[in-house]
Amino acid sequence: MAYADLRCKTAIVTGAASGLGAAVVRRLVEEGCTVAAVDIQDKVKTMAAGFDQGAVLPLIADVGDENACEGYVAATVARFGKVDLFFNNAALIGRRELLVDMPVDEFDRVHRVNTRGVFLGLRAVLRQMIKQGTGGAIVSTSSVGGLKSSERGTAYGSAKRAVIALGATAALENGKYGIRVNTICPGAMDTPMLAPALNTTGDVSNMFKHVPIPRPANPAEVAAFVTYLLSGQASFQTGGTYTVDGGLMLV
Ligand SMILES: NC(=O)c1ccc[n+]([C@@H]2O[C@H](COP(=O)([O-])OP(=O)(O)OC[C@H]3O[C@@H](n4cnc5c(N)ncnc54)[C@H](O)[C@@H]3O)[C@@H](O)[C@H]2O)c1
Repeated sequence: MAYADLRCKTAIVTGAASGLGAAVVRRLVEEGCTVAAVDIQDKVKTMAAGFDQGAVLPLIADVGDENACEGYVAATVARFGKVDLFFNNAALIGRRELLVDMPVDEFDRVHRVNTRGVFLGLRAVLRQMIKQGTGGAIVSTSSVGGLKSSERGTAYGSAKRAVIALGATAALENGKYGIRVNTICPGAMDTPMLAPALNTTGDVSNMFKHVPIPRPANPAEVAAFVTYLLSGQASFQTGGTYTVDGGLMLV
């Protein structure tokens, strides 16, 4: 346990069934939090069953759906009585197409989850935290793809840019309630989302050879930084956009 103030806090984590979300659930439980683990995939139930009874509440919800977002906040409050922390993380990668080739329905599909889902999560959780009147801490997941444009980043990159803007607005508007809002921009992480890119590229060492830390992150490494931002140790940090990328943005 690294952050004593996290003990007995209640967190919501979206995209909790896999990758970074699952790593943050694990880390927050180790810190003594109770966690509502939200995902569209049923396997979030198996993941939750692996923890001590009662520590993790699995919730199946589509973050792009307004009622579902209000529902996961209500279900968390019904079970744990409050929401102190929020990791707003669910996303999909979608098709990487040149802008001129991007079908509108695919652009909309990606933005529905990655932009609208992040907005709806912020709105529902902030309303609850404001009502509670005891402050809170929120971290949303963008990407280096939201900082640095790339060819074929038409849908994913533009959505991840929007996540940064939403986090800044939320931080500005809610500091007066004692709520801190930050955004992380991971580089490559070894999760199911990255697997297709790693598989097609083949030689991972070649892919990262110019990056100061020349490998993808283990999601636990990124989860450690998220946990710090959610903890009281980050009490002066709000409105920030932080790369967690092994130096990828430098190259
Ligand atoms: N893996 C990387 O290299 C990388 C790099 C930069 C940023 N990111 C970002 O990190 C975050 C976590 O990604 P990951 O790598 O762990 O991916 P992942 O695919 O392992 O996990 C994403 C989770 O989000 C869930 N999800 C997708 N759509 C959803 C919806 N509509 N409602 C609820 N849940 C939904 C999925 O079911 C999955 O469990 C994402 O925001 C992603 O964009 C990932």
